Amino acid sequence: MSDKTTITEQLPRHIAIVMDGNGRWAERRGERRNAGHRAGVNATRRIVEACGQLGIDALTLFAFSSENWQRPPSEVGMLMALFIEALGREVKSLHEKNVRLQFIGERSLLSEKLQRKMSDSELLTAANGGLQLYVAVSYGGRWDITNAARRLVEEVAHSGLTPGQVTEERLHQCLALAAVKDPDLFIRTGGEHRISNFLLWNLAYTELYFTDALWPDFGPADLELAVREYQQRQRRYGRVPQQHEEPG
Ligand code: IPE
Ligand code: IPE
Ligand code: MG
Repeated sequence: MSDKTTITEQLPRHIAIVMDGNGRWAERRGERRNAGHRAGVNATRRIVEACGQLGIDALTLFAFSSENWQRPPSEVGMLMALFIEALGREVKSLHEKNVRLQFIGERSLLSEKLQRKMSDSELLTAANGGLQLYVAVSYGGRWDITNAARRLVEEVAHSGLTPGQVTEERLHQCLALAAVKDPDLFIRTGGEHRISNFLLWNLAYTELYFTDALWPDFGPADLELAVREYQQRQRRYGRVPQQHEEPG
């Protein structure tokens, strides 16, 4: 990365990425979509490493959405096999880099083998204080909010929670990313300008950045461009320019 001294000022603490464009990347090269997903894993490794080096606190990656279950079974099967393979291969080196790996999403829909790999990786890296890496698998923003509502209803039944006690803060605490600050910067590769049911609640005041680069082509230099654009933004949170600091 060039000129690290200036880029570290006002760094986004949490970056969320929709890693889109694997299929098109492969199709443009006359290859099968699966080749794009494989190349996507390599891009993921490079970006995780770059975020660690930059000193980003948290990175949340959208790997497989609630809606992606509707893809052809062959592609879903290949993606699931790829997750298992990539986890097996990458976790040790993530651990060595002090990365804490966690997963968000509806795990009960995943194979037992994948679920086991996920919880083993979480356990192995649980005490790591470097980059906090969240991978969203079988995740949807609506699933997340619905799940939170379900938990609140359980609290009504078990501890007598009353309607007046249902606050934004309490609901937030029931969400998948309760333990981390909301993303400062959202990046979507692949040219589409939409959220596609990613972190609906947590993106309320996130700065949005879209790039045409396809995920397998997205590298540290592209990440740096996104961060530099973020650093030009003025975050106001609904206030007037003179008071644009983050609300307490
Ligand atoms: C993103 O790439 C990866 C997943 C959704 C699993 P796509 O597979 O959506 O690639 P495109 O958008 O078809 O190019
Ligand atoms: C969003 O990409 C989900 C992930 C990158 C995991 P999609 O390719 O599934 O989104 P749409 O279908 O273009 O909205
Ligand atoms: Mg896509």
